[in-house]
Amino acid sequence: MKILEINDLKRLAQKRVPKMFFDYADSGSFTEGTYRANESDFEKIKLRQRVAVDMSNRSLATTMIGQDVSMPLAIAPTGSTGMQHADGEILAAQASEEFGVPYTLSTMSICSLEDVAAATTKPLWFQLYVMKDRDFNKRLIERAKAAGCSALVLTLDLQILAQRHKDLRNGLKAPPEINLNTFLQFATRPRWCWQMLQTKRHQFGNIYGHIKDVTDLASLHEWSAKQFDETLSWQDVEWIKEQWDGPLILKGILDPEDAQIAIKTGTDAIIVSNHGGRQLDGAHSAISMLPRVLDAVQGDIEVHMDGGVRTGIDIMRARALGAQGVYIGRPYLYGLGAMGKQGVTKSLEILAKELDTTMALCGERDINDVGLHNIAE
Ligand code: FNR
Repeated sequence: MKILEINDLKRLAQKRVPKMFFDYADSGSFTEGTYRANESDFEKIKLRQRVAVDMSNRSLATTMIGQDVSMPLAIAPTGSTGMQHADGEILAAQASEEFGVPYTLSTMSICSLEDVAAATTKPLWFQLYVMKDRDFNKRLIERAKAAGCSALVLTLDLQILAQRHKDLRNGLKAPPEINLNTFLQFATRPRWCWQMLQTKRHQFGNIYGHIKDVTDLASLHEWSAKQFDETLSWQDVEWIKEQWDGPLILKGILDPEDAQIAIKTGTDAIIVSNHGGRQLDGAHSAISMLPRVLDAVQGDIEVHMDGGVRTGIDIMRARALGAQGVYIGRPYLYGLGAMGKQGVTKSLEILAKELDTTMALCGERDINDVGLHNIAE
């Protein structure tokens, strides 16, 4: 099978990863309307084609929060990444490092932050969920500092968890119930089962061993369901900022008013995001909110975005509108499920190639020169 676009990786992942885990990645909340809009709204943004301008010697290199990136993209934090492929977090972090883009490790990752940091040489970004147990947050921040993380991504749009119908229908729970349906899902994916049997990492290393009473998947499930903090406020964000005392990115800002409040916290950047359509179904797509948020921010802080980026053309659109960079979630997860580390590299190669071609056909040689003038009326 020829792998030419992200959708090819998606099809291959669907064949190789047990249905309940593929669906876990490939789903949005409730009707999935916002999930679909995240992707389809990109197509509404038209780029200006320019001709007879020198398109030689192109460069996609730029910075995100002042850190060098080989293209304006970072890997988004995704929980339970090791479900797509054994040691998934380590493989994805290594592929990102080799490609020169930041990897953001989720609080809910299977590999621990120390294990991922030990398997890479460049600093990771670490994503934090605010848990009711503030002591846990504090200790996690200390661990992120000790592991040399160069940015903290604080996610604000998951105070409660929206429902994903596919997960419930598939019986995705911890530990999975074994019945004929789930048994068949595993039995038809022997390659996946084989790599899972080889790895020693069937643990949520940021939590196991660090929280008394969380010793297995069932107790982890119970603990995390109770731990997301419904009372989270902007004061908590300030508290986290003080504890961390390093580059901070606030994730899950979709509303211009929230963006203005975010600036007051002293954050370095925000990510315009609706959690990839996994939380507020019925919200606008992230790309359609980007111009409004940029307008509210007025250049005071960096604005990043995620949700629905599936091509390099989409990256060009987001960058032309004014985002300093984008994040990808599912595109790299498909790559990981399809071909492990090589698949993550492939997803990055595909996006970089598409971005490079698109930028050239817009008459630009340097990604740093891309802007609103590249958007067609
Ligand atoms: C996520 N996302 C997410 N975000 C976060 O801050 N912490 C997390 O642990 C997770 N977990 C997670 C799991 C899976 C399977 C997915 C698909 C997403 C949201 C993620 O960071 C990002 O906002 C979206 O994935 C972006 O949308 P696309 O690129 O997947 O369309």
